[in-house]
Order: sequence, then C-alpha cells, then structure tokens
Amino acid sequence: MLPLAELHLHIEGTLESDLLVELARRNGVLLPTYDPAELTARYGNFADLQAFLDVYYANLAVLATEEDFHDLAAAYLARAAAAGVRRAEIFCDPQTHLRNGVPLEVVFGGLGAALAEARASGMSADLIVCFLRDLGADAAEELLRGALPFREHFIGVGLDSAELGWPPRLFRTAYEIAAAEGLHRVAHAGEEGGPEFVREALDVLGVERIDHGNRALEDPDLVARLRDERVPLTVCPLSNVALKGVARIEDHPLPRMLELGLVATVNSDDPAYFGGGIDANVAAVRTKLGLTDDDLSVLARNSFEAAFVHDADRTRWLAEVDAWSGSPSP
Ligand code: HPA
Ligand code: ZN
Repeated sequence: MLPLAELHLHIEGTLESDLLVELARRNGVLLPTYDPAELTARYGNFADLQAFLDVYYANLAVLATEEDFHDLAAAYLARAAAAGVRRAEIFCDPQTHLRNGVPLEVVFGGLGAALAEARASGMSADLIVCFLRDLGADAAEELLRGALPFREHFIGVGLDSAELGWPPRLFRTAYEIAAAEGLHRVAHAGEEGGPEFVREALDVLGVERIDHGNRALEDPDLVARLRDERVPLTVCPLSNVALKGVARIEDHPLPRMLELGLVATVNSDDPAYFGGGIDANVAAVRTKLGLTDDDLSVLARNSFEAAFVHDADRTRWLAEVDAWSGSPSP
C-alpha cells in the first residue's frame, strides 16, 4: 500500500454516523434520526462549504467527555493506519467545543490520549489547533492564549471554517503570537476565496503550507511563486466535489497542479462527510483522473516533504515510497 502523510484532516470531520449515534445515546443528545445510514445519506448533497459546516457543527454537540474525544481520534487513527498513513497532522476546532461547554483540558486530554496510543503502535501523529475564522480575530487570539498552557499537545495553528468574508489578514496578530511560540503555521485559503487569500496567507500570516489552494491556479504569478518556493498545497479531491468547488471528480485540477510542478498532496479533509478517507481519495484520483503510479509516488513524496517531521523520519518514509514505486500495489 502507498505510504502517505495525511496533512489536511479535521478530527471532527471523521465522526462517522455509527459513532455519532453511539455518542448521542451516551450523552443524551437529540439527533434528527438514530439510523446511521439515514444520517450518512443526508450528507449526499451540500450546496457549498457553509451548508456542510452547518451540519458538521450541529453534530459536534455529541462530544462531551475525554472518552468521547479519545474514541473519535482512536477510530480515525486506526482507519488511517490501515490506509497506509504513517504520519497524520490533525486539525481540531476547540472553539466549537468551548461553545458547547467543553473545556480545553477535556479536548486535549481525550485527543492526546488517542495520539499517544497511536504513537505507541508506531504511527506518527500530532495536532494543529485551528481558529474558526468566522468567529473573528479577537476570538482567535483568545483561543490561542487559552491553549498555550496545553502547548505540549499541539505543533501548530491553522485557520478554517467559512472562508468568504474572512480574509487571512484579519488574523495577523494570532499568527504573530503563534510564530513567537515556535508553532507551525498553516491556513485554509483558495477553497472558496480567491488567489488573493492565498497570497495574504503567505505574506501576512507566514504560513508554511496552504490548505486547499485550488483557486491559486487562477493567478499564473502566484502559481510560479508556489512552485519556486515549493509551498505545499494540501488538496482534498472528494471534499472539493462534495462542496461544489469542482463540478465532477473528472474535472479536478490535481493533474494540472502536478504538471505545473506544485507540491500538491492528497488528503481527506472530512472523511465522514465526503465519501471516504485518504484511501478513497487516492483511489478516486487514480481511477477517475488517470493518475499513474509515478504520479502517486510523487504525491506520496510531496506529503512527506510537506510534513512537519524530523529529517530521520522523512528519510525513512521516503525510502518506503521508493520501495512502493519498485512494486506498486493499491
Ligand atoms: N473547509 C473549511 N473549514 C472546515 C472544513 C473545510 O473543508 N472542514 C472543517 N472545517
Ligand atoms: Zn479543511
């Protein structure tokens, strides 16, 4: 199986319907239905990012205890390991849980316990704390100050949720604080927002990777910069189709990104909602976009190049990609 790093994955977006129902029962939370298949069927047709986010945030009311957060992350990590993921850099949205009355120590305690177990069984995993951009800049700074006492639980900060109307420059101060703390910095940009959002994320926030970045392709100068500076893009093909950024998987720009020499990677974003994990995304780009085994090994190499890891780990995983390239298997 192709060895990969998964770099764009919201842990809250891994809440599969069967676990959602189990947690709702555990915590006495009302759901519109307790039939997991019916819940999943409702995810079939989101109009856009906001339509998805409305369902995603509502479902998160079922997460209450450390055990819940542990079970959520443990389930994802087991699926990811089975799909060939060696390294997972996992987004979490603590502001959502704070809004639901769940303190940070519960979120970090539960997720941290699951990550520690995964590390003990040989996987590499870390958390990236995301700011919900539609709650604004003051809330982002407040979250970061509140999260710093839990600094050992995360390696970086990100920026997610509704993009339109929330340009990266609003979050300059939060990212300056993060940089001063030695945290890695990434941001969603160019999913629905235009190429100027990608530029701002680079120039104002100092990000090391762009999450999505699809709309950067509209600006040739920006494409040249991303290529020359080897700025990784964490691309999420099935997500882009589910949220209508791309009309059909066959129209996805990933092959063009590779032709342009961009450091594109494949990721699952919110696998419980968009039709599957990183393995389903790899299968889709292979069968529907015609990517070859050589293309897949470039994507795998890009993922380890883009990962926030020590060189010794990177070298070991790149050697595994070489071995896979010698005798590719699905
Ligand atoms: N985009 C922006 N914010 C998000 C997403 C996404 O796909 N998933 C969870 N939060
Ligand atoms: Zn995302």
